[in-house]
Amino acid sequence: MKSSVYNATVIELPKIHNVAGNITAIDNTESIIPFDVKRIYYLYDVPGGESRGAHAHKELQQLIIAASGSFDITLDDGTTKRTFNLSKPYYGLYLPSGIWREINNFSSGAICLVLASHVYKADDYIRDYEQYLKFKKSS
Ligand code: TYD
Repeated sequence: MKSSVYNATVIELPKIHNVAGNITAIDNTESIIPFDVKRIYYLYDVPGGESRGAHAHKELQQLIIAASGSFDITLDDGTTKRTFNLSKPYYGLYLPSGIWREINNFSSGAICLVLASHVYKADDYIRDYEQYLKFKKSS
């Protein structure tokens, strides 16, 4: 897999501003994100000090949004690490396939909203870091 942490980008999402509250809408017809969304999931009630992720996906692409609160995402392509802080609901981090990621420093009440290119498949995960490094070398 040739993807590198430099293929991850922060995408500014449309924001419909209203004094009574804002709306951000994303759909498959407006090429805001570079894949069709097949699944949405969200992480919430993350206890203080916990970290999530610590895996890579062989095929899955994702857009990760701090729908509420904030958290850090550290990406690692086996050569380089990059950390992004997400704290605004109108920015999404586009994550190509083949990147190791860890998510931590969740603020209280944070919601990590994920738009994903595929339905859930357990065999798309690489959960062992040494295996991930081998996967990067061989692909
Ligand atoms: P996982 O993706 O490992 O969570 P994280 O990266 O946030 O630490 O998923 C945790 C558990 O939830 C795992 O047992 C698989 C399950 N799961 C699903 O069943 N469907 C899904 O869409 C996702 C994302 C996870």
